[in-house]
Amino acid sequence: MGDSVAGVATRARTSEVDFALIGHQESWRAAADVLAVLRGPERTPLPDDEIKDILPWIPPRAVCHVDIGSIVGAKARGLYIDSFIPPDRLEAAYVHENIARVRGAAACAIKAGAKIVSLGGFSSILIEGNFDQLPERHDTVFTTGNTLTVAFIVQGIKKICALEGRNLRRSTLLIVGATGDVGSGCARCLAPIVSSVLLSARNVERLRRLAAELQADGVRVEIAADLQRFSAEADVVICAASLASSSLLLGRIAPHALVCDAGYPKNLSPRAEMLGVTVFFGGLGQITGGMKFAPDFRGVLNRHPFPDVVHGCLLEGMALALDGRFEPFSRGRGSITQERVEDMETIAARHGIYLAPLYNADGPVEDGLLLPDGMGVRMSAGIPRGSGPAAPLS
Ligand SMILES: NC(=O)c1ccc[n+]([C@@H]2O[C@H](COP(=O)([O-])OP(=O)(O)OC[C@H]3O[C@@H](n4cnc5c(N)ncnc54)[C@H](OP(=O)(O)O)[C@@H]3O)[C@@H](O)[C@H]2O)c1
Repeated sequence: MGDSVAGVATRARTSEVDFALIGHQESWRAAADVLAVLRGPERTPLPDDEIKDILPWIPPRAVCHVDIGSIVGAKARGLYIDSFIPPDRLEAAYVHENIARVRGAAACAIKAGAKIVSLGGFSSILIEGNFDQLPERHDTVFTTGNTLTVAFIVQGIKKICALEGRNLRRSTLLIVGATGDVGSGCARCLAPIVSSVLLSARNVERLRRLAAELQADGVRVEIAADLQRFSAEADVVICAASLASSSLLLGRIAPHALVCDAGYPKNLSPRAEMLGVTVFFGGLGQITGGMKFAPDFRGVLNRHPFPDVVHGCLLEGMALALDGRFEPFSRGRGSITQERVEDMETIAARHGIYLAPLYNADGPVEDGLLLPDGMGVRMSAGIPRGSGPAAPLS
């Protein structure tokens, strides 16, 4: 590994990197762990209340190098830049402060000479597809990463249906956050292959526009801002709303529904009572050609029960870098189509970037993936309680 934490930012300015990943932490526990590595093992961990005081004062900065490999031998060097948006400040009240943080993180990526930058988590939501809000860039392009996210959500839905022996074609699909970049992309990919679609978000006019687009292709669609108002119960659900905290209560869904929580932070409330329902975290992929952090942030930045699992939004920049395609593949504002998703899947798969094994807050929801005919497959129903180890910080 070799890189010291202090050296990353300095070296990032002098040696060019292929890609940069802009992110922020989903929980205080995760943010505390990042700070602990940045401070070094010789310093005693900060108390929880001090971390909450300090974090809002940390400017966006390069945290570590990320070296990745492809199954066809390509290699790329990247930089993870944390915008240090505090986990409890994603609400609209902090929008100007947070946009400034994303701009600051983007400036770090441009200064480092990154050829492509993935806007992870809320970064792209804050920019709202308007890349002109980002600082002046020379040869740096930006992508929201949402096309690969949609690809992995759709693949995850198909896989869990296959594992559970469900027929997607007979399913009623509910998408919460349906008019968003991720939600509308999922709707375009899945609507043609389900029985009917329920679309939900707060703005009804935008719901009507998306419904009309899908209906024009013969899809049966219902829309509602209030989840209780749908006439049918959903048996497959995608949660892709840009919620500042895990607060979603789904209410009426079928007793054995399959639920993909693709939110970052997670959409579903830990208080949700969903007995019999299978939940998995969606939009995640796994890079099989190798990934190394320098300094070593393994398990700190990627807090998943499987190795080398990364959010689809960040993996998109990595896949494009490995492919030498430095282009703003996903620009936001609801333009993700099935064709684009297939293109992105092909690019990712070419370099060994595939759907990650499915899991939720209780751990893996699938075992024995390689066994034939679903033998050895074990499903666990559970509601997400946030990722990372249990600890006082939340
Ligand atoms: N798993 C991954 O790798 C990954 C990658 C990218 C993004 N994400 C996550 O996916 C989610 C969506 O991202 P996006 O880029 O699609 O965001 P977006 O384009 O801003 O769309 C957000 C959607 O959520 C709806 N929404 C917002 N607040 C809501 C509320 N209180 N109740 C119901 N609906 C609400 C919005 O419509 P209205 O405003 O009309 O309500 C819109 O339909 C975010 O949590 C994001 O962090 C995950």
